[in-house]
Amino acid sequence: MDWKKIYKSKLTKLEDAVKKIKSRDRVVTGHAAAEPQKLIDAMIRNKDQYEDVEIVHMVPLGKGEYTHPEMAPHFRHNALFVGGSTRQGVAEARADYTPCFFTEIPRLFKEGYLPVDVALIQLSRPDEHGYCSFGVSNDYTKPATECAKLVIAEVNDHMPRTMGDSFIHVSDLDCIIETSYPIIELNPPKIGDVEKAIGENCATLINDGDTLQLGIGAIPDAVLLFLKDKKDLGIHSEMFSDGVVELVESGVVNNKRKTLHKDKMIVTFLMGTQRLYDFVNNNPSVEMYSVDYVNNPYVIMQNENMVSINSCIQVDLMGQVVSDTIGLKQFSGVGGQIDYVRGASLSKGGKSIIAIPSTASKGKLSRIVPFIDEGAAVTTSRNDVHYIVTEYGIANLRGKTLKERGRALIQIAHPDFKPMLIEEWERRFCTKFE
Ligand code: COA
Repeated sequence: MDWKKIYKSKLTKLEDAVKKIKSRDRVVTGHAAAEPQKLIDAMIRNKDQYEDVEIVHMVPLGKGEYTHPEMAPHFRHNALFVGGSTRQGVAEARADYTPCFFTEIPRLFKEGYLPVDVALIQLSRPDEHGYCSFGVSNDYTKPATECAKLVIAEVNDHMPRTMGDSFIHVSDLDCIIETSYPIIELNPPKIGDVEKAIGENCATLINDGDTLQLGIGAIPDAVLLFLKDKKDLGIHSEMFSDGVVELVESGVVNNKRKTLHKDKMIVTFLMGTQRLYDFVNNNPSVEMYSVDYVNNPYVIMQNENMVSINSCIQVDLMGQVVSDTIGLKQFSGVGGQIDYVRGASLSKGGKSIIAIPSTASKGKLSRIVPFIDEGAAVTTSRNDVHYIVTEYGIANLRGKTLKERGRALIQIAHPDFKPMLIEEWERRFCTKFE
């Protein structure tokens, strides 16, 4: 049958589409910039028709209204990553958090740990062959769609058409809602002097021809500022943002020396401004795959000289890294941090970097601590950790004894907190710190 006829036959009114969701269904939604906002708003409007619908997703950039107290009888959010709009709901136990590596999320859906009743997604307009693109979020969204009992898709003419294994045919959708609204933008963060110093230190660890993974935020963006004189860099990353576009345009990132997917940037989701979304639209140099491929450490490691850069909340004197909790409070999620720490560690010539300001809470707290906070979860273990970078320098912890690690970390701590750290180091190792 002509795909246009199929497409037309699936066009559904928003309110009718959400009526197909039943009480106690597990609903997996697209996330980050690809959150299907109209569908979620319609569910909230029609809340009285639902009891105990489970809403599962990763990065929340939308309103997160289903975590509000008055929604409790209707929705329960199961967060695979916590963000600003869902943090309070999780802290107050109206919502749950499920610890998991980003790369493993498709398995949770496919192997029956979290069977998917409904996938709510946002796609690009179909091309001339009837294929819609997953646009800025392929990650777990495509695998969840493939195993959902019911697929409801917003087809948004603002969603870019991204390449790679990023397509779905209209015949695989159950309901289609045509929408037209700008997808969520994330403005570039403010980069201060501390972030610049951290960026400059990280850049000294990056060589011409390396392949990079960069997280989101001021530090990764600050690193990019200091890469302008490098050559032949490549990208294999969970996500990237506007900063990478600049480096492509200036010729610094050309992917020519990549040992896997040469000439291509490999990524699983994108968050940035309209400039980024325009850049990736129909761009064959950017390929999107699902996260069980992109973040698989055994795939990442095939990039020689892979350098990963992520951030954390606390690191103790043994090199245990806490990235997603503040004490017992679930602040964010593990995301792809360990996927990349391990992938970079396995890569020939690879390096994994955890880059942090030496202090938090306007200088009141040291991020380098003798002991992690009570209740905090270790994200990157002391066995996996490689480089820790602050504005004061670089600590290479690999192959170092506990005593040497402690010393290296104290050397890059903020001067105000060094006496306290030295006191603990001397107590622990019965040695004078010189
Ligand atoms: N003790 C108490 N509070 C702390 C703290 C500490 N040691 N370290 C940070 N905080 C507070 C900060 O003060 C800040 O609070 P505020 O917003 O009220 O000022 C908040 O926690 C966020 O800290 P900040 O470091 O500014 O956050 P960020 O946006 O740079 O994100 C992570 C840092 C670690 C939370 C983030 O990188 C993350 O979630 N990482 C894990 C996932 C990951 O690495 N994914 C990989 C690829 S995307």
